[in-house]
Amino acid sequence: MRYLQGPRSRERSDASIASMERQFAEQGWGLWALEVIATGEFIGFTGLARSDFDAHFTPAVEVGWRLARQAWGHGYATEAGAAAVRFGLGPGGIPDIMSWTAAINSPSRAVMARLGFRHDPAADFEHPRVPPGDPIRPHVLYRLPTDGPRSYPDE
Ligand SMILES: CC(C)(COP(=O)(O)OP(=O)(O)OC[C@H]1O[C@@H](n2cnc3c(N)ncnc32)[C@H](O)[C@@H]1OP(=O)(O)O)[C@@H](O)C(=O)NCCC(=O)NCCS
Repeated sequence: MRYLQGPRSRERSDASIASMERQFAEQGWGLWALEVIATGEFIGFTGLARSDFDAHFTPAVEVGWRLARQAWGHGYATEAGAAAVRFGLGPGGIPDIMSWTAAINSPSRAVMARLGFRHDPAADFEHPRVPPGDPIRPHVLYRLPTDGPRSYPDE
């Protein structure tokens, strides 16, 4: 929770789910629920989301992830993130996918790097929905390289 804005209230959590469902209804893709294949355990979400908060690169499509604590350290976010990016660039027909997170969120940045995204320091930004002075307000922006073949972990 230290890289997010604390646990969500029931009301805010319900609003997030409604927004996720809306994106599936409107565009056929979004933030997918994540299950461990072997057990069926629900461990969080990974996927694609449109964002339109006020920033120099928005509106934009982001690949993102949020996993339950017990699901960290197994490679699940990277595996699911690669599947989401493959879907987006392929059948999803999304020409550009980015990823962003709080600058201090090293685990999330490591997932981006494993997926082949590169930090674009010139594009870093202060997240407008995080209050000034909050340590998670400074954000980093990662992009897929355009100067060569994109490589993803194979399925
Ligand atoms: C961001 C987050 C998903 C990263 O989780 P993570 O477990 O570090 O990332 P992955 O699922 O890709 O797992 C990679 C780790 O699993 C390890 N691993 C173990 N078995 C593995 C396997 N079979 N294949 C690949 N990696 C494996 C890797 O070595 C790596 O560990 P390391 O970082 O110690 O080297 C997680 O920290 C999280 O949910 N945080 C809270 C929400 C959040 O911050 N979201 C982002 C907001 S922008």
